[in-house]
Amino acid sequence: MSETFAAFTAEKTDDGFHRGVTELTLTDLPDGEVVVDVEWSSVNYKDALAATEQGRVARISPLVPGIDLAGTVRSSTVDAVGVGDPVIVHGYDLGVAHHGGYAQVARVPAGWVVPLPDGLSAREAMLVGTAGYTAALSVLALLDHGITPDAGTVLVTGATGGVGSMAVAMLAGLGFTVAASTGKPEAEPFLRGLGASTIVDRAELAEVGKPLQKPAWAGAVDAVGGATLAQVLARLTPFGAVAASGNVGGADLPTTVLPFILRGVTLYGIDSANTPIDRRREVWGRVATDLKPAGLASMEQVVDLAHVEDALDEIGRGGVTGRYVVRLRD
Ligand SMILES: NC(=O)c1ccc[n+]([C@@H]2O[C@H](COP(=O)([O-])OP(=O)(O)OC[C@H]3O[C@@H](n4cnc5c(N)ncnc54)[C@H](OP(=O)(O)O)[C@@H]3O)[C@@H](O)[C@H]2O)c1
Repeated sequence: MSETFAAFTAEKTDDGFHRGVTELTLTDLPDGEVVVDVEWSSVNYKDALAATEQGRVARISPLVPGIDLAGTVRSSTVDAVGVGDPVIVHGYDLGVAHHGGYAQVARVPAGWVVPLPDGLSAREAMLVGTAGYTAALSVLALLDHGITPDAGTVLVTGATGGVGSMAVAMLAGLGFTVAASTGKPEAEPFLRGLGASTIVDRAELAEVGKPLQKPAWAGAVDAVGGATLAQVLARLTPFGAVAASGNVGGADLPTTVLPFILRGVTLYGIDSANTPIDRRREVWGRVATDLKPAGLASMEQVVDLAHVEDALDEIGRGGVTGRYVVRLRD
């Protein structure tokens, strides 16, 4: 009898949308050179979209969601990836158009595989996950722009979320003074614990305002978009920069060219899904060293496959503080 393993699937059928834990076999998995025994995955906002009927993110049905996975290579048909190697896989089509991390076994293209760097466990890597990797790309964009800790305060929006909390911790770890914008006043101790110096009520940034306002921040990591991103652009100091990755607050950008042409500010777009693999491996090396967030454990909530649905619903409502990791094996 062929081996079966547990998986959480989401499926659109003629009689509705169904999701839940089921059993799969290796023949259910898509093509790829590398088979991974998955140990940990994570829950991201994109996973919530991929696992809901209205999300318009899933491109296959049924789908095993899970845009992040970490585990050990069970078999490989390429020399570059060895049996027994600890690996991370995330982005590209994983959990969107190719079965992802919410299964005990995954089969993926070798070109998506990142060796787990020294200094990170598989569990820590999933605690960081796509959210933390996106935060790392954002922080690196600000560093590459030339923003240093003595340039002034850096703002993080959506600060209690996955991208936001990781960005707060990474920036604080590098010595930046961090302002954290949040809609959850009760999360102030959590954010200060990650290293935030000031807390900004996200309502202050939620309304469309003038395109140029009193400068407040040398740089920003924005996971919210919409009016919030426009407000951030309006309040950057001259030649400041914002790294924009998200749209939980809207996909429009109600601003003008004025912040760009009168203050020389820069808007960096962050795309974690399609980073070329060499750059992805390099950035994970930074995540395991100088960008490794302190206090990772304080951000962690653990769920098993049977409870991943609740976590997906919660993140879909914007209610999560920190990061959910998914335990696939005991
Ligand atoms: N570009 C990329 O490669 C990439 C990669 C990862 C994620 N993303 C995007 O980045 C965003 C954040 O992802 P995530 O995984 O960090 O999600 P998350 O954990 O759900 O965090 C989002 C945070 O944004 C805030 N928020 C929620 N709804 C809001 C609203 N209507 N207006 C303003 N703020 C709101 C909340 O923080 P507070 O309560 O603290 O304000 C929430 O915790 C999503 O849009 C996601 O799709 C993009």
